[in-house]
Amino acid sequence: MTELHRSDDVDRDWWRSAVIYQLYIRSFADGDGDGLGDIAGIHAHLDHLVELGIDAIWINPWYPSPMADAGYDVADHRGIDARFGTLADAEALVAAAHAAGLRILLDLVPNHVSDQHPWFQQALAAGPGSPERERFLFRDGRGPDGTERPNDWTSCFGGPAWTRVVEADGRPGQWYVHLFAPEQPDLNWDHPDVRADVEDTLRFWFDRGVDGFRIDVAHSLIKEPGLPDIGARAWDKQPPRVAPIPGVNQTDHPHWDRDEVHDVYRSWRAIADSYDPPRVFVAEAVVPDVSRMARYLRADELHTAFNFDFLKSPWRPELLRTVIEDTLREHAEVGAPPTWVLSNHDVARHVSRYARAVQVLGVNLSELQGPVDLELGRRRGRAAVLLSLALPGGAYVYQGDELGLLEVEDLPDDALQDPSWERSGRTDRGRDGCRVPLPWRAAAPSFGFGPAGAAAPWLPQPDWFAEHAVDVLAADPSSVLQLYRDALAIRRAHPALGDGTMRWIERAPDGAAYGAGVLAFERDPGFVCVVNMSAEDVALPAGTTLVLASSPLADPTTLPPETTGWLRRG
Ligand code: GLC
Repeated sequence: MTELHRSDDVDRDWWRSAVIYQLYIRSFADGDGDGLGDIAGIHAHLDHLVELGIDAIWINPWYPSPMADAGYDVADHRGIDARFGTLADAEALVAAAHAAGLRILLDLVPNHVSDQHPWFQQALAAGPGSPERERFLFRDGRGPDGTERPNDWTSCFGGPAWTRVVEADGRPGQWYVHLFAPEQPDLNWDHPDVRADVEDTLRFWFDRGVDGFRIDVAHSLIKEPGLPDIGARAWDKQPPRVAPIPGVNQTDHPHWDRDEVHDVYRSWRAIADSYDPPRVFVAEAVVPDVSRMARYLRADELHTAFNFDFLKSPWRPELLRTVIEDTLREHAEVGAPPTWVLSNHDVARHVSRYARAVQVLGVNLSELQGPVDLELGRRRGRAAVLLSLALPGGAYVYQGDELGLLEVEDLPDDALQDPSWERSGRTDRGRDGCRVPLPWRAAAPSFGFGPAGAAAPWLPQPDWFAEHAVDVLAADPSSVLQLYRDALAIRRAHPALGDGTMRWIERAPDGAAYGAGVLAFERDPGFVCVVNMSAEDVALPAGTTLVLASSPLADPTTLPPETTGWLRRG
């Protein structure tokens, strides 16, 4: 039995403390030279992940797809897109990752499929009223000629959530729901075929040794019967926030976070638990109240969820403290470990967010405000990494975070591929700036993303990516890459880190309150973390010794501004 698949309790609970690396396959490494990342590229760079010290990788969709939404428009959930490799390559990768001590999570996209999926093509051909259409959400339009969309729902990428089809006789016909792009028709989760098919997909990959799934838009799936208008329902009128508002939930929303969705997750959990070792799930559940999120993490549902409140929080101590406290409290209620996330493939990279002089709520390029101070962003980014890896539970690292990558804010218009760009009438530049292919070697063509003579990367890399190349950072002991490696090595060995509890430290050694700009906490046995978000030096707690700092210290008892220290008590 491999070390990965011991069946003792520690091993079965690996996900409670795991650091999971989000591997955005299109942009990780291009093995075959077509300009798009692939399985061969992952295989060739497993050593980078092992040296980094993460526990598992989550691979964004690698299934056959027309790529209208970078693979989140899945045409066949039980295959591999030829541009990424073959099913045999995928199986070999799972085996190689396991042999290297890494677990693998895949991305499950249950809310919608590609418009090229055979079911949708059959539904188009079969016409109104057919059983084939019942697997989706087809409706007649409103108005005398059916020219008005059936309700007021909007697409997350801009514009209406409805598209009208042309029927076989050439006339305009019914409309179908797509909460995302028109190429991503929503499935009808009241249909038994839909439930059975997704369960088959789970088993298909679990049977191939995959350790779990990230669930795309887990708060969707179920729609209110009758597909009513959202109208003026209270939830949509709430202002953006990072902290929960007691009493506010979105149970009255016709397509987000409906209570019935939890039955789906109970049946999936039973499938995951029927494997040895049990397989795990992480939810992408975007809900406005962390207590609603915790409902996805009840003991018989999903295992963990991305902490979007933490990701969305500006670099402001009072907001971060509130998010941490709310997160810990609500997760403890259901016995689930929290996760701590700084960046992903849908948001502007955190170094660029924290570089803004004005720290407002907002994670997309269009929402960032104020003058940019990149040195400050880098310093805060390093401090945030040590904070996120010290808090109780699991953590995520988005590929390129370990290289200190910034958002690429000036991609040429004609390079942009995110559907938000066109659907917003070219006002929202979308999410491509955090998806630019990784730099591996500063001096190589495409910075080593592809082999010699390869096609240009699918998004252009700016010249400054050379400074972030893996070979440059690996040779620099003060680099952000080294900080990640050191922190992950300490975390792996330290009994206080990962799953567990923490206590705030409210007072500096002189007895004065730490003040508004400092987050300090301790974890047993003997671990202390101090995050100095103020503009002043702060004294480290008495009786502690520095183990690791996010920025250099001039004096070993004093933490400079915008710096996190990991300390040993005693
Ligand atoms: C999730 C994914 C995002 C995708 C969307 C539709 O939010 O993270 O990238 O566009 O779902 O599948």
